[in-house]
Amino acid sequence: MADPLPYSRDDEKVQPPLKYDEFRASVVRAPTKPLVRIPHTLTETTGPSGKGVWAKLMGPAVMDLTRQHSGEPLGERIVVSGRVLDDHDRPAPNVMIEILQANSCGRYVHEYDQHDAPRDPNFTGAGRVITDSEGRYRFVTIKPGAYPWYNNWNSWRPAHIHFSLAGPAFANRLVTQMYFPGDPLFPLDAIANAVPKEYRHLLVARFDKGTTEPFWALSYQFDFVLRGRAATPMVQ
Ligand SMILES: [Fe+2]
Repeated sequence: MADPLPYSRDDEKVQPPLKYDEFRASVVRAPTKPLVRIPHTLTETTGPSGKGVWAKLMGPAVMDLTRQHSGEPLGERIVVSGRVLDDHDRPAPNVMIEILQANSCGRYVHEYDQHDAPRDPNFTGAGRVITDSEGRYRFVTIKPGAYPWYNNWNSWRPAHIHFSLAGPAFANRLVTQMYFPGDPLFPLDAIANAVPKEYRHLLVARFDKGTTEPFWALSYQFDFVLRGRAATPMVQ
């Protein structure tokens, strides 16, 4: 059997360093020894990617986070959509995209989150979709609120959505965060600031009037690029 074609490597200029002093959690979890580069063999260049395989493994898609409970969640309803592209600008179909976010008050559904803000019984904040044949995805959700965190005294995270992408192979897994345009907290965010300045804008969604739903929801566009110079930075 012929050797599988390796994927191109991450462009390290795009990515944040593993250890960034301003982001305190990165200091304690960053590797202390040089990384070992693993060759892209069959194990890394393949994955559960056939049509319908994700639905079989994970169950049906959850694209509307505003309809997971008996009532409607509070907050500003939004549509988040876009495309997943590979390093040659080709659409990546059958990519599983998971979404995780706080509610409109900036509180997660998790026992660790003891932030003094209301919970919302009608909002879980987790969803999952599969990209179509053109690499497109779409979620309906609620705009998340900002929340305080223990990075420094009086640190606040800007509104953001966590994304996890499982592409056609294990080598192009992507975990990142999407921010909203014009957020005054974005320039203060230690996690975003770890990304080199010229690539930081790749984390910010674009308000898109064309895909808004009249009298119903505003809309943001956010494309993911799995590799290369325009790659979406990994932010965890
Ligand atoms: Fe978060």
